[in-house]
Amino acid sequence: MSNSKKPGLRSARWFGASDLRAFGHRSRTLQMGYAYEDFMGKPVVAIINTWSDLQPCHAHFRSRAEEIKRGIWQAGGFPVELPALSLSETFVKPTTMLYRNLLALEVEELLRSHPVDGVVLMGGCDKTTPGTLMGAISMDLPAIFMPAGPMLRGNYQGQVLGSGSDVWKYWADKQAGKVTEDEWRSMESGIARSFGTCMTMGTAATMTALVETLGLTLPGASSIPAADSGHARMATACGRRIVEMIAEDLKPSDVLTRASFDNAVVMQMALAGSTNAIIHLVAMAGRAGVDLGLDDFDRFAREVPVLANIRPSGEFLMEDFYYAGGLPALLSELREKLDLSALTVAGTDLGTAIANAKVYNSDIIRPLDSPVSSALGMAVLRGNLAPGGAVIKPAAAEARLLKHTGPALVFRDYNEMSKLIDRDDLDVTPDHVLVLQNAGPVGGPGMPEWGMLPIPRKLLKQGVRDMLRISDGRMSGTSYGACILHVAPESYVGGPLAAVRNGDLISVDVDKRSLVLEVRETEIARRLAEWVPPDRTFERGYNRLYASHIQQADKGCDFDFLAGTARTPEPEIH
Ligand code: FES
Ligand code: MG
Repeated sequence: MSNSKKPGLRSARWFGASDLRAFGHRSRTLQMGYAYEDFMGKPVVAIINTWSDLQPCHAHFRSRAEEIKRGIWQAGGFPVELPALSLSETFVKPTTMLYRNLLALEVEELLRSHPVDGVVLMGGCDKTTPGTLMGAISMDLPAIFMPAGPMLRGNYQGQVLGSGSDVWKYWADKQAGKVTEDEWRSMESGIARSFGTCMTMGTAATMTALVETLGLTLPGASSIPAADSGHARMATACGRRIVEMIAEDLKPSDVLTRASFDNAVVMQMALAGSTNAIIHLVAMAGRAGVDLGLDDFDRFAREVPVLANIRPSGEFLMEDFYYAGGLPALLSELREKLDLSALTVAGTDLGTAIANAKVYNSDIIRPLDSPVSSALGMAVLRGNLAPGGAVIKPAAAEARLLKHTGPALVFRDYNEMSKLIDRDDLDVTPDHVLVLQNAGPVGGPGMPEWGMLPIPRKLLKQGVRDMLRISDGRMSGTSYGACILHVAPESYVGGPLAAVRNGDLISVDVDKRSLVLEVRETEIARRLAEWVPPDRTFERGYNRLYASHIQQADKGCDFDFLAGTARTPEPEIH
């Protein structure tokens, strides 16, 4: 439970002194048109706003920031909006993952360098959730996360369309000649009908649900559709609550414990959540001083079935999930798997937060004894091809591929794959295992979402829709298929994935959690000794910083100098 330590306000170091500098801080606040009554002696609350004109998922954040401010004023705080990187999953190239740590660094330093006592973090589009939170965890001021909320269901000629998932599906049909150019065009105006994040169980919906489970949002906040008026009221409630949290000195370090991270991993399985969430949760845990590893995910995957019937592993979308009771209802179905004594930013434990939750549609939110599928939400594979581990989402794959041996078809990098994959003379059968090298944290760079390698057009025309695919990259949470991802260590740094050649046999057995390159170890060692990675040297700039400090996927891809819990001193105020 929170305590009432009530330390002196951090911001008082800027505003409360009687020296020359404090004169400057006060006169410059008056310069903005505020009166002493607006700010003196009040907690200063930062609103980290990841709005931009190229961030469609956060298009409502300018008005939501005003709604948060309304709550902060109501509760007697002084709101200050601080813009941060908006990291649009759609527009930022080569991949937002290259910049997640930059956002984390930006948020941590924005909070450290400014006169603020607490923060409301506005995010939702994939990397903005872990990015803002990693920074806030390291800074450890009272913090509350306000999720952007999912967009409305997609609609096309009366059919429901889901972000990402249905794009991949209809694109495959189009490649196979089953969707016309005109039909494809008209899907464009029906698939993204409002502001808000992807409404399938992609990375955005997964991460915001996990963050609510961790206790870092108000109860129920992550499921409210962005366009629902309740979303605006939730924003105002975040503003009111953060002011109380500052008085209680309730910080991320009070909320984030081993128990809260275990709860989040339980939720990851019940959602069949995005594989990206594994990387982000490991990174967040590292910042919080909790030792979370891939094996923790595998352990809970065996214990917790998929209960959320949401695409790509299920049928429905986030709007339906909200009407079915939303995350509190799903949490209540998982009671026996969770530690309900974990604290939340509401100031109560998780059990209290879900005390009144109800399931209104048990097809969408299933009970433990009637899961969406018997397949696992995820599995961690190891073997001579992935000594540091790799992940697969069995619930989103064709079952026949979960135990499979086939010859490798290797692409040295993404460009080579793009050139070859749709050729009619490609030597490939449905039994082949497609391998993509150099898609990892350094080799991509940025570990792009290339892990759902396209099915070769030749096979699409034969009706093939799933194949075994292996890479050191990631895949979008809205993707599906028998894709083995995050192979660690990556090929670029000399991981065994670099040794695979065309025709080598690869065996996967998900039940046994094994991923084996059927080549003698001496031969693998010989090939690795000869391996020359492609040129990824960066002379200067952010890419150079990134390449010198990025860690592998099993460590959460945090920068080595940002990871951990060592404290950075507060700034001197002169
Ligand atoms: Fe923003 Fe999917 S593109 S959440
Ligand atoms: Mg995504």
